[in-house]
Amino acid sequence: MSNALYRDLKKLAEQTEKNADFSNDNYRLNFHLMPPVGWLNDPNGLCKMGEYYHVFYQYSPFNADGGVKHWGHYRSKDLLTWEQMPIIMYPDQPFDVHGVYSGSALIENDKMYLYYTGNVKLDGNFDYVNSGREHNTVLAVSSDGVSVDYKKLLMKNTDYPENLTLHVRDPKVFKYENKYYMVQGARTKQDKGVLLVFESENKFDWKHINTISTNETFGYMWECPDLFYLDGMWFLVCSPQGVKKQGNHYQNIYSCGYFPLYGDFRNEYKLGEFQELDFGFDFYAPQTFTDGQRYFMLGWFGMPDADYKNPTENWQHCLTSLCTLKRSGKTIYRYPVIEINKLRGKEIKPQDATVFDLEYRCSQSGRIIIRNALVIEWSEDLLSITHINGGNGRNTRKVDVSNINFLRILADTSAVEIFINGGEKVLSTRYYPKDTGIVLPEHGNANIWEMKSLNIVKD
Ligand code: FRU
Repeated sequence: MSNALYRDLKKLAEQTEKNADFSNDNYRLNFHLMPPVGWLNDPNGLCKMGEYYHVFYQYSPFNADGGVKHWGHYRSKDLLTWEQMPIIMYPDQPFDVHGVYSGSALIENDKMYLYYTGNVKLDGNFDYVNSGREHNTVLAVSSDGVSVDYKKLLMKNTDYPENLTLHVRDPKVFKYENKYYMVQGARTKQDKGVLLVFESENKFDWKHINTISTNETFGYMWECPDLFYLDGMWFLVCSPQGVKKQGNHYQNIYSCGYFPLYGDFRNEYKLGEFQELDFGFDFYAPQTFTDGQRYFMLGWFGMPDADYKNPTENWQHCLTSLCTLKRSGKTIYRYPVIEINKLRGKEIKPQDATVFDLEYRCSQSGRIIIRNALVIEWSEDLLSITHINGGNGRNTRKVDVSNINFLRILADTSAVEIFINGGEKVLSTRYYPKDTGIVLPEHGNANIWEMKSLNIVKD
């Protein structure tokens, strides 16, 4: 499928990627996926088709401050060597001309069905909430997972239930009991975040069958929803906007977490208590997928509209480490995929650590200082991270957690992920350190490995 707009955009994007020169940039990531150039946000269309894992992502190659979104693409057979692929979708149709927004993949009979939101913003004096915007549900079909055979407009704002603003987006599609289901995030006219559930027999015709929400308003909009059955329980993940700060919770401008869902998402249901997925500064819009064996989660290592920034030029943001999910009671544990261990090089001394993987079996309280930039401190039931140098506007975040006995810290050039007790709680933050070395408490038992880079293959 191609038209003149597609062809010109493709040519421009390829030139822009080719001309990008980051040879003097120490903040490009070693083992996190990042944009070849320009801006990245949400992971999209995560799936395994045949022997390839596919990671698509919101990508603006021409504008490192955001801009018109395309779908960038990486694929891998082993989660360690990643091919940087051509952009799979350009904003080249009247129904997606201002952005190929977020969405998901369904794989069936070796075909990739990509569902996404086509964003259109009209010119004029609009509020873009109740007027001036189209959020179209679009299906793009790909036979090879590399290019799109065709795009088809499935639903537009007038096809959605009543009482909604024009904010309806981010379809996540899955098959269950021989039918197809699509969940979308939406903002009602009363500014309440809700989840719309659609059903289909054939992947093309969709019917709204349920709307899921909390009794009390929990944010005005739920972005990037996901609904999945993990180890015997349904979970609804979303990124709510507008949740008020409360103790050590919801410290970022927007939140991200999950509700256990009891009952039937198609009918009578009850949502359990919301739990946050991350307590750092930079984690948003995660998406899950399964290869039939494991459940994976990948997130955006960023936060929209935050007042802290990244000091990088001509590129912004990256994706988180790929994690597997496990359930324990009503809690989802999130932990790096085992493949990441293969990036471990030799064991190193604390004073030599720059890009590293640290496992630390700890006692009740302690403090770790990373590269004279980030202080991690914990006591019986609290862990905090504080940027002391190079936080670029980031300061402190805290998480309530008891019986801290094990920390895993993955530190890339400009990104740190802290997994507490095997992924019970996680904190992710970008940072911009200048010094080398980490300071560990005297007690405890640490292993530190130097980390090798992902193998990124460009053609
Ligand atoms: C979340 C989000 C989505 C939207 C996309 C646009 O970060 O706002 O709701 O589809 O980003 O890039």
